[in-house]
Amino acid sequence: MTIRIGIVTVSDRASKGVYEDKGGPAIQDALREILSCDWQPVPRLIPDEQPIIEQTLRDLCDQEHCCLVVTTGGTGPAKRDVTPEATEAVCDKILDGFGEQMRAVSLKVVPTAILSRQIAGIRGQSLIVNLPGKPSAIRECLLAVFPAIPYCVDLIDGPFLTTHDHVAKAFRPKK
Ligand code: MTE
Repeated sequence: MTIRIGIVTVSDRASKGVYEDKGGPAIQDALREILSCDWQPVPRLIPDEQPIIEQTLRDLCDQEHCCLVVTTGGTGPAKRDVTPEATEAVCDKILDGFGEQMRAVSLKVVPTAILSRQIAGIRGQSLIVNLPGKPSAIRECLLAVFPAIPYCVDLIDGPFLTTHDHVAKAFRPKK
């Protein structure tokens, strides 16, 4: 079965066409660089509306059978930033380590990384990971957590993800 990965850009302005979506393509580029297995992107471009974000995440996990869903945008403190709330609302379990690690790594680059409330969690057989909206943050944050993603997907009975070791080496504890 094809490995499917949901890529969700959450942005009022990009979804209205006020500017080009740079986040979705940046996630695709980073995943292409990291993954050595075949996979198919399932992209979505939506506004910062909590019900729409929740519905999109549910659809990508439950109908589109994405083992991994990566979002970009809407993680900050501004009034319309609600991606972490939507993610939390649809997840069965929250994995706090993802946000902690991404902020720790990003804080070495920009002090405003502390403003991102990004989280990650499990819905059914899918792992959802929030990334900030800045395209430059996408690769940094994905590389910071990707070594743990293939094993996480194993643990929720997802497909076997393989990576290019020189980019992000997947860690699977020996049984
Ligand atoms: N993380 C990294 N690695 N690089 C960045 O430039 N920008 C920060 C932060 N995290 C940033 C980052 C800023 S300025 C904000 S406001 C928050 O992410 C939230 O961004 P978002 O609302 O677009 O998700």
